Amino acid sequence: MVLTNHHPRKVAVVGTGNVGATFAYALLMSGLASEIVLIDANVSKAEGEAMDLNHAVPMHSPTRIWAGSYEDCAGAAITVITAGSAQRPGETRLDLIQRNAGIFRSIVENVVKNNPGGIILVATNPVDVLTYATWKFSGLPANRVIGSGTILDTARFRYLLSQTFEVDPRSVHAYIIGEHGDSEVPVWSLANIAGMRLPDYCAANDMGCRQEGLESIFTQTRDAAYEIITRKGSTYYAIASGLMRIVEAILRDQATVLSVSTYIEDYYGIKDVYLSLPSVIDQGGIERTIHLDLNEEEIAGLKRSASVLKDTIGTIKF
Ligand code: LAC
Repeated sequence: MVLTNHHPRKVAVVGTGNVGATFAYALLMSGLASEIVLIDANVSKAEGEAMDLNHAVPMHSPTRIWAGSYEDCAGAAITVITAGSAQRPGETRLDLIQRNAGIFRSIVENVVKNNPGGIILVATNPVDVLTYATWKFSGLPANRVIGSGTILDTARFRYLLSQTFEVDPRSVHAYIIGEHGDSEVPVWSLANIAGMRLPDYCAANDMGCRQEGLESIFTQTRDAAYEIITRKGSTYYAIASGLMRIVEAILRDQATVLSVSTYIEDYYGIKDVYLSLPSVIDQGGIERTIHLDLNEEEIAGLKRSASVLKDTIGTIKF
């Protein structure tokens, strides 16, 4: 990564709506950033968020927070893009593409003009499609263009499984891969607790693993956003936490395995698309994507997900 004027602990946030503002707050709480710049077309909103966050600084570690312009992206280790419309009740994430793709070209070109050496992390939906668009618009190497992808779905999946198996969610190792959306795929064949695949765990620990119960866990995972949006209008705490986890792995150079939206060169024959797979995240962005020993059903699901995403990518003018 060739960097000029690099600030290793500076993070830029484009979009100060619920997700961007919640992420900025989580980043302040983490103490990981020395500088946080907030950028929004609604300058007054960005200024208000910066003022409110600055009033929290005395209770936390010194952090310079301000509302800025794209020039202020210069030197940021990471620019997190959350700008755009969120799903309305009854809308799928893919329904957002026309509203959000249009603004992304100018956002990305402005970021890269001022920060050609940093990492871009995309959260705006449909995140896989917009991360692909960001990669194309930016001209950056794919390893420095990351989408939050199914880090959130994987967290939901682990949480729901942890409730069934009565263990800490962090002790459940299970992934959701593919689209961050309706075509996402649960990797049941590799899900494990204490190194034991779930059917073996159930048998060895006298637990009834009812197939319908496990299938319900996946549908609750896949449909969680719809349920939350119906009740509170939008989601932001968990997605902000997912963004925070990715940013932490980058800023602390942790080589953490996270299911993020990554560029697929050739994965079970899937090519030229962004979708989520467990990938190693470090200070350079995506260090590598892990090859999973998927079963036939999971491979077919991943290919269906890739096809859905490629159809939507095909509607964007590059
Ligand atoms: C969700 C949004 C971030 O799944 O897509 O909550």
